[in-house]
Amino acid sequence: MLPLKEKDKPIIQKLLSAGCCARCILRFCCVSVQAAYRKPPEETLEELQIFINDTKNDKCQDSVALDSTDEYKSKDAAESETSEDPPNKRAKLETSITDAQSEEGAAAVVKLKDGDSRVCVVCLGILQELCGTTQAVKITEAVKAGNYEFDTLVLSVSLPAQLCVREHSCWLHVKKEVREKGLVLNKDDVIQVKEAFKWIMQGMVAKELGGTAVVTKVSPFEVSVEFTHSETDADCHFLAATCPDCFKPTKNKQSVFTRMAVVKALEKIPDGKFLKHYPCPPKQPTSSCSPQEVQCLRVSVFVAGRYNKFCRSLPQTPWVIDGERRMESSVEELIAAPILSAFRADGFNFSSSGREDVDVRTLGNGRPFAMELLNPHKSRFSKEQMKQLQETINQSSDKIKVRDLQIVTREAMSRMKEGEEEKTKSYTALVWTQKPIQREDISFIDDIKDLTLDQKTPLRVLHRRALAVRQRAIHSMSTRFLDSHHFYLRLKTQAGTYIKEFVHGDFGRTNPNLCQLLKTNTDILELDVESVDVDWPPPVPE
Ligand SMILES: *[C@@H]1O[C@H](CO)[C@@H](O)[C@H](O)[C@H]1NC(C)=O
Ligand SMILES: *[C@@H]1O[C@H](CO)[C@@H](O)[C@H](O)[C@H]1NC(C)=O
Ligand SMILES: [Zn+2]
Repeated sequence: MLPLKEKDKPIIQKLLSAGCCARCILRFCCVSVQAAYRKPPEETLEELQIFINDTKNDKCQDSVALDSTDEYKSKDAAESETSEDPPNKRAKLETSITDAQSEEGAAAVVKLKDGDSRVCVVCLGILQELCGTTQAVKITEAVKAGNYEFDTLVLSVSLPAQLCVREHSCWLHVKKEVREKGLVLNKDDVIQVKEAFKWIMQGMVAKELGGTAVVTKVSPFEVSVEFTHSETDADCHFLAATCPDCFKPTKNKQSVFTRMAVVKALEKIPDGKFLKHYPCPPKQPTSSCSPQEVQCLRVSVFVAGRYNKFCRSLPQTPWVIDGERRMESSVEELIAAPILSAFRADGFNFSSSGREDVDVRTLGNGRPFAMELLNPHKSRFSKEQMKQLQETINQSSDKIKVRDLQIVTREAMSRMKEGEEEKTKSYTALVWTQKPIQREDISFIDDIKDLTLDQKTPLRVLHRRALAVRQRAIHSMSTRFLDSHHFYLRLKTQAGTYIKEFVHGDFGRTNPNLCQLLKTNTDILELDVESVDVDWPPPVPE
């Protein structure tokens, strides 16, 4: 029995003749009992028909509570849900038809049976044949084909924007009736198409998947179903003239008639004006909506670690000049490729705590990095598996190595960028001097502490960074004499200090610089990063 009230009768009558489907009628009668929507629509239609034709038993038609659950936890739950209805219901239904014995009643049932093959004027078929086992199987197949790892999934539905226009037209149609009868009906109580679709489909999909929880609210795994209906796309167009402000072109949208914009315009348009431009009830469509390809999306997983770079001809990110690739590989690609394939992700986003130049090595404990993995199909990794992945990366190339590889949260990632300016970094530079030197000539450098530099943006990065003078600190330095023209210089500096420029002076753009201190031309031949003092990510015990 459907939870309908006497006052619903005129609404049902009106919507039936307007060409609404049985489920849309339940929506406009504000039926919030989910099980009512899960009944086969032909049965609902028959019941509605009997209900409005039954004038004798008006008093006892008031609501019968059916079960309403939000989530399907298991196959069993889904099954007990469907076995809710008494098994002999169909029999009961048939007797009640014969009981009525009215020619008129029987005729109406017949009429509605072929009436049901019509596409609903409001939902455009979405709550009709597009909402049932076929669709559930299609969704399930898409999910299975993706071979995702997941515990729960959430369904999302995208409907053509014109559905809002049709819904509004139908609402005005009902409102008129309701007002004439002196009844009250709140638009917010009307059940949304999306809502009803999910109530019906969640359980079906859960069952098809063999008992996976299909949840209503949040899940890291989202399965999206999209419907379009080109036949009625023009339904929205009259709104553009009424509310030009609502429809501003946006960069990445194909049409200005987005659902949001249409809803906004409908809130603004006065009823009279709407009715002048749009039929009420809406016009009968000839075809149902077209379901688009089912999209599966797992939220990003974040992976962090530290990398060493042992090569002086490897850029950190792909090096492309004028559309042409300059180096065959990059740190980012060498690290990302094995991780991407292990997580079976669609893409990645790499970031690190600073970066080194193409000719600079990164030694010691390495440089912290983090990667966002987009739409990972696999997302569960044990400690052992992460270690295995690290080994795969290590063995894939001599140019880089990775340690402390781990899965982190999006929030934890910000630790890497936090207070980056205050962090310290240690370097070793191989320095050349024009003037011959002796051990004693350079030893004074070891005593210099907390030297403040004024660094104008280096010439070599001026094409991508604004011209500015930045103050940076060299906390300490130490030297190791090599020969009369070479020595090693170890520096501990504030992050962001330009080491090369400190050594060669950058035509006086860095002050003071090593040329000034040694009173000769100096140049930098090699540079290594010895440590990046960021305490994130945490070490992974062996
Ligand atoms: C990559 O990360 C940046 C910064 O966190 C973010 O703005 C951007 O949207 C990300 N890109 C993708 C494709 O997720
Ligand atoms: C990978 O290489 C790094 C750096 O040499 C090392 O610390 C780490 O233990 C290696 N990991 C594996 C699993 O091979
Ligand atoms: Zn409908």
